[in-house]
Amino acid sequence: MADGNSETKTSNQMWGGRFASGPDAIMEEINASIAFDKKLYAQDIRGSKAHAAMLAHQGIISAEDKDCILHGLDTILSEIESGTFEFSRRLEDIHMNVEARLGVLIGPAAGRLHTARSRNDQVALDFRLWVKEEMGRTEKALTALISAFLDRAAEHAETVMPGFTHLQTAQPVTFGHHCMAYVEMFGRDRSRVRDALARLDESPIGAAALAGTGFPIDRHMTAEALGFREPTRNSIDTVSDRDFALEFLSIAAIAATHLSRLAEEIVIWSTPQFGFIRLSDAFSTGSSIMPQKKNPDAAELVRAKTGRINGSLIALLTVMKGLPLAYSKDMQEDKEQVFDAAESLELAIAAMTGMVRDLTVRADRMKAAAGSGYSTATDLADWLVREAGLPFRDAHHVTGRVVALAESRGCDLAELPLDDLKAIDPAITDQVYGVLTVEASVASRTSFGGTAPSGVRRQIAWWRERL
Ligand code: ARG
Repeated sequence: MADGNSETKTSNQMWGGRFASGPDAIMEEINASIAFDKKLYAQDIRGSKAHAAMLAHQGIISAEDKDCILHGLDTILSEIESGTFEFSRRLEDIHMNVEARLGVLIGPAAGRLHTARSRNDQVALDFRLWVKEEMGRTEKALTALISAFLDRAAEHAETVMPGFTHLQTAQPVTFGHHCMAYVEMFGRDRSRVRDALARLDESPIGAAALAGTGFPIDRHMTAEALGFREPTRNSIDTVSDRDFALEFLSIAAIAATHLSRLAEEIVIWSTPQFGFIRLSDAFSTGSSIMPQKKNPDAAELVRAKTGRINGSLIALLTVMKGLPLAYSKDMQEDKEQVFDAAESLELAIAAMTGMVRDLTVRADRMKAAAGSGYSTATDLADWLVREAGLPFRDAHHVTGRVVALAESRGCDLAELPLDDLKAIDPAITDQVYGVLTVEASVASRTSFGGTAPSGVRRQIAWWRERL
């Protein structure tokens, strides 16, 4: 990377006025951000165009200079998009690469673009615009994932499976209900994106280096041209604030944590031991040595991406925590973390959406597991409360004795003869067998938000309306 060595050390053409010589090669290497911030080229050019138009509108630059600048910036945009633009590390970052090229293309008028502006508000603008667009993409991706889950939930509103606590069979639930738990989780992620977008929606440009400017700029005009609700209100805060990046990373970390829990369930469910689901060939891999294997690699990688995304959040929090106001170069380290997390999150959501859409539900296996482990014991206790008038604590105790008996016989609760049940509590009648099946158990859980198929369908309809 140290190509600075071979070049003569002339001082930087953009800010080198007071420097006798150029930077050491190592200085250049640690200082330059062009390798990664060139990703912001479109936002940088958009921002410069809005700034130039405003400068001309306010009479700060001439209309001719503005026209030259706008035309030059359009040329640069097409050069970058067609791959003919030559990025230079000596010019440090995207802002100075664009401005230097503008000088080559249009001459002295290019030097007027940076009036009433600094790279500090410029980078805050470019990065904000990028994060805003990325959050739009995140929201769309989450919507697709939620919609995949809604389809699977509708298909399986009545499919019984064991519900777990401590990963031990607890009570029967439906697969549809379990899917809807993820709809709630990803729905919260989506609403976090929306909240953050509303907070981010202020334009930084015009804060200049940190103190504002004496030129008669119109920040409301640039804010509007760039699609922001309004300009930021404090120039010092504007150039030192990276909350929008931290919020994006926090949202990403929470969403990735949700994805990771889902990935973990997919890994467990697709084992031969559980066998609740089969992953499609499109989202699994084989083993190079064991021909019988089908591995959930995509789910495992989604689980692992969470580590990376959480790492990015901690990295940027740590970069920011000791910074005095306003701008410090430390903040240049914000971009790679956000770019990397964004890429990982997009990929993880897309892979998960594919897996959810494609996976085969093995309803027979789920049902068999749902009935094992005395999963309807709570239904028996509830029946004793409802039909025999026992206090719940007593009913719990009676049920415990019934479970112990079934366990000693190696049979299910429903297989115990009525006489044996009556011997434990004479209030038990043959009516009790009606509540001991897994289907009866889930159908009875009609409390709001419960697992009964009717309730699950109601929640699916609620979500479909909001999507
Ligand atoms: N490349 C810099 C960054 O990403 C741009 C801002 C530089 N500002 C400055 N005063 N050196 O933060």
